[in-house]
Amino acid sequence: MKHLLSINDLGADGINEVCRLADLFTEVSQRPIPKVPALRGKTVAMLFYEDSTRTRLSFEVAARRLSADVMGFSVSSSSVNKGESVRDTVNTISAMGPDALVVRHRSAGVPHQVTGWTSAGVINAGDGWHEHPTQALLDCYTIRDRLGSVAGRRIVILGDIKHSRVARSCVMAFTSLGAKVTLVAPPTLLPPAVDSWPVDVSFSLDAVLSDCDVVYGLRVQHERQAEALLPSLREYTAQWGLTVDRAARLPVGALVMHPGPVNRGVEIAPEVLDQPNATLNEQVRHGVAVRMAVLYLLLAADPDLHPEGEAS
Ligand code: ASP
Ligand code: CP
Repeated sequence: MKHLLSINDLGADGINEVCRLADLFTEVSQRPIPKVPALRGKTVAMLFYEDSTRTRLSFEVAARRLSADVMGFSVSSSSVNKGESVRDTVNTISAMGPDALVVRHRSAGVPHQVTGWTSAGVINAGDGWHEHPTQALLDCYTIRDRLGSVAGRRIVILGDIKHSRVARSCVMAFTSLGAKVTLVAPPTLLPPAVDSWPVDVSFSLDAVLSDCDVVYGLRVQHERQAEALLPSLREYTAQWGLTVDRAARLPVGALVMHPGPVNRGVEIAPEVLDQPNATLNEQVRHGVAVRMAVLYLLLAADPDLHPEGEAS
């Protein structure tokens, strides 16, 4: 595999392969010196045109744990501010010889465009409303770790689905592994083509709560909304928020997941985030091993070899 732009680039077999490799890299991450020489001599460049905490840092940690070099790039302190285009920026960074570019951009399709401007592998770290494949991978890994498998699980994705690239990638990943997905959102926050998605849709969170294995909450992504789609956040929370009362009606052992960042008290009550079935920190932790697996699959000379070994 040269690039990872969409969950569809992997399919069910590819997702399972990433999870299998992530098991090995989880073990590496628990060593006193959490580093292997698997990608020594490789360089991974970060190209983040949009804010990020988790994705950017975990890709950097993942690359370093594989002994790759990391090139950072921050729009706010780069020549993008002097008017340099994405294409020229990619050309410039590519001239320094990176092996992979990790790209986040507010417009859908930019990582795909970047593949035409570089010989490096390109990883989509979130493009507009389109996709965020490594988020979906770490979510599959977290569900598999907690519940044993994704297959057969009943997963409710709750909130601002319309503006969520996470929802698009997660729906593809969860359903390709055999989960049953139900979207729950106000009609204004559902995507227009939702009828063609392989999901059920409900307008009542209360109706689906007692019959699910996972509730996956999404942030109301105001920065991606051009119009006022909600009467008020208070009304939104009253009808669509995972409150303490609602969380108490979840089946025993059901997971509460969220990609982060969370707006505490809007989509999920703070007390619910502190419960042992809330997996937000685990998702972040697994993100490192899963991104190590993705970098390894893209960049290792022979990804079939066992990625073991001691760092020098
Ligand atoms: N961090 C995720 C994303 O970049 C989710 C979010 O921002 O709400 O899509
Ligand atoms: N979940 C996620 O992508 O978080 P960041 O936006 O902080 O990277």
